[in-house]
Amino acid sequence: MLSFQHTAHPARVVFGAGSLARLRAEVERVGGTRALILTTPGQAAVADRAVGVLGPLAVARFDGVAAHTPVEVTERALAVAREHGADCLVSIGGGSATGLGKALADRTGLPQVAVPTTYAGSEMTPVLGETAGGVKTTRSSPAIVPKAVVYDVELTLGLPVALSVTSGVNALAHAVEALYAPEANPVVDTYATRAVALVAGALPRIAARPDDLDARADALTGAWLAGMCLGSVGMGLHHKLCHVLGGSFGLPHAETHAVVLPHAMAYNAPAAPEAMRRVAAALGVADAPAGVYDLVAGLGGPTSLAALGLAEADLPAVAAAATERPYPNPREVTPAGVLALLTAAWHGERPAGRTGQLTEQVVASFAKAPDRRVADLLGGLVRHLHAYVRENDVTEAEWRYAVDFLTRTGQACTPTRQEFILLSDTLGVSSVVDALDNSRTPDTTPSAVLGPFYVEGPPEVPPGADISGGLPGVPLWTDVRIAGTDGAPVPGAVVDVWQSNQDGFYDVQLPDLEGPVLRARLRSDGDGRVTFWSILPSEYPIPDDGPVGGMLRASGRHPYRAPHLHFMISAPGYRRLVTQLFVAGGAYLDSDTVFGVKDDLIVDFAAHDGPTPDGRAVGGEWRSVEYTFHLGASDAR
Ligand code: BEZ
Ligand code: FE
Repeated sequence: MLSFQHTAHPARVVFGAGSLARLRAEVERVGGTRALILTTPGQAAVADRAVGVLGPLAVARFDGVAAHTPVEVTERALAVAREHGADCLVSIGGGSATGLGKALADRTGLPQVAVPTTYAGSEMTPVLGETAGGVKTTRSSPAIVPKAVVYDVELTLGLPVALSVTSGVNALAHAVEALYAPEANPVVDTYATRAVALVAGALPRIAARPDDLDARADALTGAWLAGMCLGSVGMGLHHKLCHVLGGSFGLPHAETHAVVLPHAMAYNAPAAPEAMRRVAAALGVADAPAGVYDLVAGLGGPTSLAALGLAEADLPAVAAAATERPYPNPREVTPAGVLALLTAAWHGERPAGRTGQLTEQVVASFAKAPDRRVADLLGGLVRHLHAYVRENDVTEAEWRYAVDFLTRTGQACTPTRQEFILLSDTLGVSSVVDALDNSRTPDTTPSAVLGPFYVEGPPEVPPGADISGGLPGVPLWTDVRIAGTDGAPVPGAVVDVWQSNQDGFYDVQLPDLEGPVLRARLRSDGDGRVTFWSILPSEYPIPDDGPVGGMLRASGRHPYRAPHLHFMISAPGYRRLVTQLFVAGGAYLDSDTVFGVKDDLIVDFAAHDGPTPDGRAVGGEWRSVEYTFHLGASDAR
């Protein structure tokens, strides 16, 4: 059987467009004859209007309101109140102005009339948060609740969109946490779900048209209801985190709410499924935490603690402070759990929602692998794969297609065709691995992808040999040197070379060719020199008659590689270098389909028609390429 207690605070509300005109009546109603106006310089124009409305009832103005209600500011305002014999407080502004009014009301017993200009909702609560010595504490007492609240929708028209969003999410946070508060009851649930629907529905309209009076009225109504929720029930982990981040780490209040809320919700979701179901229904989404994240992100609001200026190194301290004396929360608040939540919020990750737990289960299933690296690689793969499926809302049919694609990729592999390497190359993965694993110093020659056409143990040939096997093409004289980073020659290096014919085929693609052609192994001489004849390489399509070719066509990509020669260079004491030399001026240098081209590897393949370096008669045009490869020492990365 349902049983509950409900406390409603008897604040009077005057709501409407232009209701600031009613301020004097409200001040008189609470018995005020000498009002102190509390505000910020930013609200000067509204304060001027309030002074005009109040006439002789306005006796003083304090415009030093500060965020997080520092006690020093309260002391200064208190002195002003005493000096002018104020018997009533009028706060104009957001949560900070209301907060100062509450701090003064709490100390003096004076009645407060609040004129909120944001969606903070604090005007509806008996809660006062104050900062002293960098620590924010909160206390609650019925005397702290303002006696009357004047909601003038017109005053919110000028609230910038960014602030409307963050302030609106602040209101959402009150409603969301009320739904899973221990004191939750049907009245609060009704306010909360209505508040979520009103605020979330209003924010996109406000972003589209900031002066949309109806949208503004919805947002302010939602904020009022959310404030009532907060006034009736306690706060949970989300508010605790915001108080720690704001009070002790100086983060801006409303922005912090916007970043933290989706992550606090994701943390609590397993322990508060009904609350999440209600929020999701009010938002019209499948998953509440992700829905709030998408709302904020879609409106250009902040999504990461990093963007708010928090240092990553501070996360453990925030987690420790937030778990020390936690607010009541549906899910147990553990330092490790909160640190994971904060880390996700710091990076601005979209919460994983319902499937997040599943991801963690799968990742944990690898944790006992005897090799730590195996656990890390498989765990990371699962995290990214799950996130990919979630972020793209992958359907079962799409996933089946993906599995079929990979199956066909495997089936296309033969001893001379490696479709998976092609896939890795065309997705740029090979080049990323290459860049990471072969990151070299600026004085070593850049590496480039191996590709699928290297064959172990190519035929060894002497210096100056012709490796073209008589195939047609423009003769090419290659004259390269192998050196260390200091320029000293590396003699005796094993240099494997391979290239395509003039039609763009490697020998392994041409079953009618006899033996290895256009591939060879040479050794550098005493000067580190390697020379050979072949033919000028041309651009060529990678094999595109398989699944990878299908992918390229489906995405409007061409299958071409820029013209190049392959080299694999090994020498004792040096790191092996796998690289390519690209023909300057060649086609597809800017759009190489495997992302292999690097500026330092684009080389002049000079044209000649005179005598050749070794006296060979070629009859007509021939080309030459010269290059020095610089190898890194094997102990250097
Ligand atoms: C190659 O240059 O041989 C190559 C590299 C990647 C994919 C296909 C071919
Ligand atoms: Fe190639």
